Amino acid sequence: MKTNFIKSLPAFMLISIMAFSCGNEDVRNEDNGRIILTPKPGPKPRINGTKIFGVRPGSPFLFKIPATGTKPITFEVAGLPQGLSCDPANGMITGVIETPGEYKTLVKATNSEGSAEREFRIVCGNQLALTPHMGWNSWYVWENHITDSIMRAAADAMVSTGMIDHGYMYVNIDDCWSVKPGSDDPSLAGEPRDKDGKINSNGRFPDMKGMTDYIHSKGLKAGTYTSPGELTCAGHVAAYKFEEQDIARYVEWGFDFLKYDWCSYSKVGNREVMEDLQRPYIQISSIMNKHKRDIILNLCQYGMGDVWKWGKKVGGNSWRTAGDLGGSFEGIATALFRDGFDVYSNDSLHLYAGPGGWNDPDYLLLGYLSNWKGQTVPTPLTPDEQYTQVSLWSLVAAPLIFSGDISRLDEFTLSLLTNDEIIEVDQDPLGKPGFRVARNEDREVWMRNLEDGSIAVGLFNRGEKTAEVTAEWNDLGISGKQAVRDLWRQNDEGSFSGSYSSEVPAHGVKMLRFSSVK
Ligand code: GLA
Repeated sequence: MKTNFIKSLPAFMLISIMAFSCGNEDVRNEDNGRIILTPKPGPKPRINGTKIFGVRPGSPFLFKIPATGTKPITFEVAGLPQGLSCDPANGMITGVIETPGEYKTLVKATNSEGSAEREFRIVCGNQLALTPHMGWNSWYVWENHITDSIMRAAADAMVSTGMIDHGYMYVNIDDCWSVKPGSDDPSLAGEPRDKDGKINSNGRFPDMKGMTDYIHSKGLKAGTYTSPGELTCAGHVAAYKFEEQDIARYVEWGFDFLKYDWCSYSKVGNREVMEDLQRPYIQISSIMNKHKRDIILNLCQYGMGDVWKWGKKVGGNSWRTAGDLGGSFEGIATALFRDGFDVYSNDSLHLYAGPGGWNDPDYLLLGYLSNWKGQTVPTPLTPDEQYTQVSLWSLVAAPLIFSGDISRLDEFTLSLLTNDEIIEVDQDPLGKPGFRVARNEDREVWMRNLEDGSIAVGLFNRGEKTAEVTAEWNDLGISGKQAVRDLWRQNDEGSFSGSYSSEVPAHGVKMLRFSSVK
């Protein structure tokens, strides 16, 4: 009967039924052989990104409510603290809060298809970065070719690709915006500082204030970069002995994020001495604290002196936990497994991070990257390794900072960056980073406790062949029946007891959320 019924169906229907019944519907959605798992956002409004945001009293506030759905979307926020208001047409909340406190607001987004509501907590106190930073950084694609117009184009792309609607916020320049002493390139040469000792930008950045104004006008935030040494890693002027002046300059220019990269500070301090390791970060954060502008401080010193144990104490909002993930283009996958998985687990990095201060295993190396040989080429990570990077970063509450070419985002790469259920794990307000709970040769199980009592689970296969990976309730510290949701596919898989197993491709992952069934 079943066979006759099937025989009578037209060919195109047969193909769809086969795809479904083989459990292989993924293959219907691919971009150049790379399988896209993330479903496209629906037409109804959905509010995304962080659910909690920190600000200091008296600092200018800027937060654009991220939401997907058919445009135009209008916004309302109930319960905003005094001093803040929301522009209904674009969801930008701006103003200044003078009175410290935790303010629970209710955000509403409405379009022609319906509306969505979500609680949004604004915490006015002395802590920023209540969830990991999300954004873009110029280094791995533009390295020393970065310019003002590339930065503006990056802000444009953050909006036109829709990344802003998923919670991406920071548009950060890396190295190479200041003068390069001794350079014979006129666009890099010039006076390093003005008459007051404040740092100058080089000729490729003719109007820093204009640039950050442009970035802010889109509801985004702007980041910059320097070193406590005399020179940055790429040999440009840095902050040594001009720290006060330079921070004043960044405040004038309107920056919201500072990456402070050790580099030539080795000439000043001894990296074997803890006091020397901490000194530049204590100094810079105390200068930053004097200004009424909220600037996130990202420590970049490659994990020296177990920085995760003291990064927050010296004023860091995040700290790089290892060397450059993409220092060797061909070695990115090796670095991903070594620094992402093993350094993190062996040193129990999850114990040290939380709201206000995050482990930073470096940027998301997806899409088009520099190969350090003058070309911009696709990431050497396989599609499964790319799923692995984004999944692991979300489980360990790492900043989601994409550093590929944002102006050249293909559908697959965009799908990796914009899966709201994966981002929700990264941005979970409880702020408890995940950890490895089981390892069986190449198979690993990771988990992260989430605010609503559910857990995120990553099944990873570091081996060269597809393998079955099993999460045991005992290892996860849970019991009873669990409803299992596949987060990349945004698909419920049903209820399981005792354990859950799945095939996982080589170097790939299955990302899940388990919720207790009452
Ligand atoms: C170091 C940092 C990188 C990047 C470069 C810039 O290598 O670790 O992230 O900022 O400097 O020169």
